[in-house]
Amino acid sequence: MAYFDTQLRDGAVLDLGCGQGRNAIPLVHMGFSVTGVDLSAVGIAQMVADAPSGPGTLTAKVADVYEVQQIAPFRYILLDSMLHFAAKDRHKEMGLLHNIASGMAPTARLVVCMPDVEQKTRFLFSAVEPMLQSLQDERFPYVFEQPALKKGQAPHRSVSEYRMLVFSKSA
Ligand SMILES: C[S@@+](CC[C@H](N)C(=O)[O-])C[C@H]1O[C@@H](n2cnc3c(N)ncnc32)[C@H](O)[C@@H]1O
Repeated sequence: MAYFDTQLRDGAVLDLGCGQGRNAIPLVHMGFSVTGVDLSAVGIAQMVADAPSGPGTLTAKVADVYEVQQIAPFRYILLDSMLHFAAKDRHKEMGLLHNIASGMAPTARLVVCMPDVEQKTRFLFSAVEPMLQSLQDERFPYVFEQPALKKGQAPHRSVSEYRMLVFSKSA
C-alpha cells in the first residue's frame, strides 16, 4: 500500500488472486480502479461485501488467473502471495509471469510480493528477464495476526520476511 500511495491514481490495477480483497479494498479507498480476480467465489463475495463505494471502483471476477487474457489495459498488475514456485506449480507460474511480461503495456508496472527466499526470487527473475527490469526492490516483515477462533485457544502471530519487486518493460 505504501508503494501504491506514491502513485498517480489514473491507472487501473489488475489484482490477480485478490482473495478477500486485502489489497483491492484499500486500493479502492485510495482512488484506484481495481479489477480483482480469484478462483474462490467465497473470497470474491467477501471482497465485494466489504468494498467501499468509492472514490475508486471495484470490478470483481471469479476466474482462473491463468485464463486472464486482457493484461494490456492495466497500468498495474499485482501478484501478492500468489507465487510459490513449488515444483508442481513452477512451470505454470513462470508461464503466467512470462505472459504478463509480454502482454503488459509499455508504461505498466508488475508488482510482486512474495516471501524473501533467494531461490524463489531467481525463478521470478528468470521468468521475466530480459523483457522486464526491476525498478524497485523492498524487503519488509510480513506480520500475520489472527485472534483466537475458539475459547481457550491462543491468538496466532507470525512474522516472515517478505519482498516487493516492481518491474517495468526494459528500455
Ligand atoms: C495466499 S492468497 C493471497 C490473496 C491476496 N493476494 C492477498 O495477498 O491477500 C492466494 C489467493 O490466490 C487464489 N488463487 C490461487 N490460484 C488461483 C488461480 N489459478 N486463479 C485465481 N485465483 C487463484 C486463492 O483463491 C487465494 O485467494
